[in-house]
Amino acid sequence: MTVQASVGSAEALPRDKVEHFDRELAEVLKRYPPDKKASAMIPALRIGQEVFGWCSPAVKKLCADRLGTTESRAEEVATFYVMFHNHPIGKHLVEICTNVSCCLNGGERIFEQLKAKWGVKNGGTTADGKYTLREVECLGACGTSPAMLVDEEMYERLDLQKVEQILGGLK
Ligand code: FES
Repeated sequence: MTVQASVGSAEALPRDKVEHFDRELAEVLKRYPPDKKASAMIPALRIGQEVFGWCSPAVKKLCADRLGTTESRAEEVATFYVMFHNHPIGKHLVEICTNVSCCLNGGERIFEQLKAKWGVKNGGTTADGKYTLREVECLGACGTSPAMLVDEEMYERLDLQKVEQILGGLK
């Protein structure tokens, strides 16, 4: 049975996850003066995303409520930074850099081949929900390009065969 959390949203947030969120947020808020806790929106959303999987409207409302600010403030921050997912994503997030160095060394080709293989657009999720594919800007690994992030882990000096190997090893 899903227990409704008291965030006043139409969406149910499981109580155990809300408690987890609150514990993590309490640690972060120790670093903020009590009257400035609204400034902790980025870490709050980050925790919310980790705990609940994505920044749903209910998660944004939870962050806003806990920080004593508005849902529109949470929305502004969540939609400004690309690391926040405002839609559900697949089990694994695959981010391919197609910026200049990576593009010249085959990053764009890898991205296009994965898109075609999975039948998704940029930001799309495979039909089985296993992968979400995103094109990203420079990952800071230009000297060892092309590079990709998979679930925030960096892989460098790639070609399609290596990418297939890495992705094939994911559960
Ligand atoms: S251009 Fe891809 S890591 Fe810099």
